[in-house]
Amino acid sequence: MSKFQKVRGMHDVPLDQSSIWSEVIKKLASTLKSYSYSEIRLPIIEQTELFKRSVGDETDIVNKEMFTFDSKSKKSMTLRPEGTAGCMRASIEQGLLDQGNQRLFYHGPMYRYERPQKGRNREFYQFSAEAYGNDTISIELELIQIAERIISFFKVPDVSLEINSLGSKEAQDKFSLELVKFLTPLKDKLDEDSQKRLITNPLRILDSKNTETQKILISAPRISDFYSSESAERYKNLKNSLDELGINYQENHNLVRGLDYYNDIVFEWKSEIIGSQSALCAGGRYDSLSKKLGGRDMPAIGFSFGIDRLILACQDAFNFSKSKKLTIIILEESLLNFGANFSERLRDALPDLEIRFSGLDINLKSQLKKAIKNNSDFAIIIGREEVESNSFSFKNLSKDNNQERLNEEEIISKLKQLI
Ligand code: HAM
Repeated sequence: MSKFQKVRGMHDVPLDQSSIWSEVIKKLASTLKSYSYSEIRLPIIEQTELFKRSVGDETDIVNKEMFTFDSKSKKSMTLRPEGTAGCMRASIEQGLLDQGNQRLFYHGPMYRYERPQKGRNREFYQFSAEAYGNDTISIELELIQIAERIISFFKVPDVSLEINSLGSKEAQDKFSLELVKFLTPLKDKLDEDSQKRLITNPLRILDSKNTETQKILISAPRISDFYSSESAERYKNLKNSLDELGINYQENHNLVRGLDYYNDIVFEWKSEIIGSQSALCAGGRYDSLSKKLGGRDMPAIGFSFGIDRLILACQDAFNFSKSKKLTIIILEESLLNFGANFSERLRDALPDLEIRFSGLDINLKSQLKKAIKNNSDFAIIIGREEVESNSFSFKNLSKDNNQERLNEEEIISKLKQLI
């Protein structure tokens, strides 16, 4: 019988890495909680129209990369390619925007039909923060500080923060017109994608990796020429604060992001160590999204960490304290119930210890071998005589031949000291 393989671009986490994933997500959640963000849980499937209206009809994500299908009632559905739109949809639907400022976080898999390569999958995991109701740069600063804290906690190598301001939506429209005017006579020299974007999404031409296009862009108009005084002031104030706080950044005038909802400040953290897919966290301000989705006027800003890339960038340099392991072995089948109960009592008393009960496999030698292979730190051996005398063999497997006889209470207090 032929075996199954995972679908191209989907992501199995190898067993020896799954604890890294849980610890990374645990750390991000506790960091966000410490800044007073609350977890919002969101569905993976949304109406296709939600992404068309928010991420944008003319973006690559919506045009080429969505996993879209018809429901049984012939409604167009999509596996979320990102979470910002769904988070805003849910916040409007649940009335959260009527309850004042919100600081939210969520995490989970996202789906984009991209060409898989190192750091790029069709299923990938994001951890995101979104803050609603604050239109001052204090919230830009807060999000940048959170991301910096996370990056420095994980000691991500070779990271740089790039920032840009896209100005208001009106500024983007004016700039796009000027850019098209400037590039149209040079159309034939542009790469194929940029030629198409000249009609569909001119701003994204700035993102082109093609060297010829990049050369042409050097003398193109700059979006900064179109900032309103308010946008220019906001950008200047943010840079001043970053300087004062000693947060390193580079300005990248071509940082335009692949989603249409942004205005003003956008940011990306890159680590060259990942290769060409170097962005490991990205986001920005998106003040018009709420209204576009039928909500009230509501300033908003957020970021998403790509967890696959964060873990890739750190390679194996994670140093989480692992929980200790105990194996409980019985020497007679008739002691099954006693062993099962004994294990339960120890789990009640020592919730941080991983306890594996060997069950009906009563071969002591093979059980000890398995315990060592399973990286067990301790073993408790229970025979008939031990049960009758309430005195069990306790082995510290990390110390050779260290075996002693202890009763149940002594075992519990000994383990409390050791773990
Ligand atoms: P994004 O830049 O499209 O932004 O994605 C954010 C992060 O998700 C990227 O920096 C990257 O780490 C990761 N990522 C994206 N695509 C892939 C992929 N195919 N494979 C692996 N990782 C990937 C957003 O999604 C916005 N919703 C961010 C945001 C939140 N803006 C405001 N709030």
